[in-house]
Amino acid sequence: MNFQLTEEHLAVRDAAREFTQSELLPGVIERDTEARFPKEQIQKMGELGFMGMMVDPKYNGGGMDTISYVLAMEEISKIDASASVSMSVNNSLVCWGLEKYGTEEQKEKYLKRLATGEILGAFCLSEPEAGSDATSQRTEARLEGDHYVLNGTKNWITNGSSASVYLVIAQTDASKGHKGISVFIVEKGWDGFIIGKKEDKLGIRGSDTHSLMFNDVKVPVENRIGFEGFGFTFAMETLNGGRIGIAAQALGIAAGAYELALAYSKERKAFGKPISQHQAIQFKLADMATQIEAARMLVYKAAWLKDQGEDYAHASAMAKLYASEVAMNVTVEAVQVHGGYGYVKEYHVERLMRDAKITQIYEGTSEIQKIVISRGILR
Ligand code: CAA
Repeated sequence: MNFQLTEEHLAVRDAAREFTQSELLPGVIERDTEARFPKEQIQKMGELGFMGMMVDPKYNGGGMDTISYVLAMEEISKIDASASVSMSVNNSLVCWGLEKYGTEEQKEKYLKRLATGEILGAFCLSEPEAGSDATSQRTEARLEGDHYVLNGTKNWITNGSSASVYLVIAQTDASKGHKGISVFIVEKGWDGFIIGKKEDKLGIRGSDTHSLMFNDVKVPVENRIGFEGFGFTFAMETLNGGRIGIAAQALGIAAGAYELALAYSKERKAFGKPISQHQAIQFKLADMATQIEAARMLVYKAAWLKDQGEDYAHASAMAKLYASEVAMNVTVEAVQVHGGYGYVKEYHVERLMRDAKITQIYEGTSEIQKIVISRGILR
């Protein structure tokens, strides 16, 4: 076993850390307040190679491993989880699925631009009545000659209005259950494709979350990914990797809040000494640090398994389940350490606490992760 990061890993982590301080930290409170998408910042993240980190360089990606990706996700999430969810969806839900299962033409046309961040991608699985129960897709795609006709509604789509390319999961044969689900590449601007309302959210308020409507949208057959009926497997496999990204996001949110609480505890005085010298605060810091380290081990292990070509579905579910729980616990405690200051925007921890909650919900709720884990155990 070797717990040491390589020089390359450390360089990625340092580059991400530097970027967050110079580009993401300024304005993060205002973007959250105004629910404003970090457009310029995401563009710069693309220029620095953060939007297609694991994509093969022949498709303009960074050719990096999953460990590098989680290190960058962790750093970026410490400062701005709205930017990091956009990064996570583009890297692990859109680029990964296209690279693994797309045709050469699809990769040339879409992946090359997604990997540089020139354009953004979105992953469209959830529907008003199909969240956790992802097999209950109502969106349907009907084959008519050389194209499909797409109809339906998708909900809570990250990068909803900022994306240019959408991977849309839809029913092609309802009689076949999950084996009758397919996946298509849909471009923004196609006739009948409507970007619906923007969600007003508790956290990750800078992230651009929309509902989407498809009214008789014509999708060329060559825009289907894989064979007809492959869509559900595609979604599940893609989410196995996506969950590593969200676990890293949760880890970053927790670590960011912890670092703020630690620094504050050394500055703030009460009863004649810094509060870090009171055991009540010391024990909180000890619990936070221990939970974060345990979450980090699960996240890195899931990433490492993926890099080794091993099965990582179980590990990624465990990492997401635990890291998101830690994100919630640690951010609540970080607010508590800050006392009254923790409850106001200026000190960042209240935002991190609000941001943490979504990591227990998207890309599979904690309850869904427990289904995946228990099925793995009992198989
Ligand atoms: N990896 C690979 N394959 C999987 C899988 C996994 N994790 N989970 C299920 N499958 C496969 C099964 O092996 C099965 O395949 P076969 O028929 O070939 O054997 C098939 O999928 C159907 O599986 P189940 O019978 O287990 O299906 P189910 O309906 O009982 O439950 C579920 C499946 C695990 C609950 C699934 O519906 C699920 O993961 N739901 C959560 C959906 C989700 O994560 N949504 C997030 C939305 S995306 C998002 O949030 C993105 C964003 O913008 C941030």
